[in-house]
Amino acid sequence: MNNKGNKRVITLEEFIIRGQNRFPGATGELSQLLRDIGLAAKIISREVNKAGITNILGEEGSQNIHGESVKKLDLFADDQLISALDRSNITCMVISEENDGIVRLSADAGKYIVYLDPLDGSSNIDVNVSIGSIFSVYMRKMDKDVLGKEEALQPGVKQVAAGYVLYGSSTIMAYTTGLGVSVFTLDPSIGEFILCNDDIKMPEYGTVYSLNEGYYNSWDLGLKKYIKYCQVEDNATKRPYKARYIGSMVADLHRTLMQGGIFIYPHSSKYPNGKLRLMYECNPLSFIIEQAGGIAINGENRIMEIEPRSIHQRTPIYIGSKQNVLKLKEFLDTYSEEATGVS
Ligand code: AHG
Ligand code: MN
Ligand code: MN
Repeated sequence: MNNKGNKRVITLEEFIIRGQNRFPGATGELSQLLRDIGLAAKIISREVNKAGITNILGEEGSQNIHGESVKKLDLFADDQLISALDRSNITCMVISEENDGIVRLSADAGKYIVYLDPLDGSSNIDVNVSIGSIFSVYMRKMDKDVLGKEEALQPGVKQVAAGYVLYGSSTIMAYTTGLGVSVFTLDPSIGEFILCNDDIKMPEYGTVYSLNEGYYNSWDLGLKKYIKYCQVEDNATKRPYKARYIGSMVADLHRTLMQGGIFIYPHSSKYPNGKLRLMYECNPLSFIIEQAGGIAINGENRIMEIEPRSIHQRTPIYIGSKQNVLKLKEFLDTYSEEATGVS
């Protein structure tokens, strides 16, 4: 159902409770977790919007565990999300981009494990370009007594919920629990997320490609050939495609969800395993895109079937509309034998 033209607005809270009521045995805990994330998202959105005035902008002076400079808002978002999740005693552990190890919450017996990229695209903060938050939720394997990293190392297919918040020209929250993707827009005048689409499907084919073309020389031959293919004029396939790259994965993926196309962060000589993180960037966004009818692969396999070895693991990613990703895969397969470095 598209809410356009329908006077009766549905808030995030109401929508979550309605969803829960469809499952008579549901404990309401996952619903509570999603509401907690919604609350943190509103607080982060408020700070993002007033960042320039409150001098929260800029380098914090430290580096995160990946050697990247940390902005103050990264830490603020991390704190907000973790304390929101700690409120309800249902999450036992959080793994966040901003923390090297696992973060144990007060609920030792809590049944959920949550991965977070508290602020994605943070290099865009200073220039007023869209940023986001990403979350991914797993059930704890209850047969284990010891709470450790092993508990958290589950493939993306085991996610019970995932989503993102995009702080753009408006603040959007999109999430899935495996029953389609629901999208909400924050109405700042009433402080509520309002449902705008409860089962979004993305185009099977799109005419936008999205990747950092500055790294062209370090790509595999198959990717170079595919991007050249995207640039060829051909009316039947609506080429050349448009190139769009924001540099915030959430923002680039939200556009891909709405308009179709392909987003790529490949492996390269600088990032032999890709740059983006499997557990809190690629898996949750793959869950969303697959639920909307798209595909996400690492070049060979489905992202969500990768067996993780470490909580901060990276992976190459090729994600978006079905036809675009399958076409790219043809190029990767065809040229996989050949060496890199051909222009
Ligand atoms: P983060 O700000 O959480 O570290 O993520 C930044 C990521 C991602 O959002 C974006 O797609 C990518 O880095 C951009 O990388 P390049 O600058 O190498 O293109
Ligand atoms: Mn990120
Ligand atoms: Mn981040």
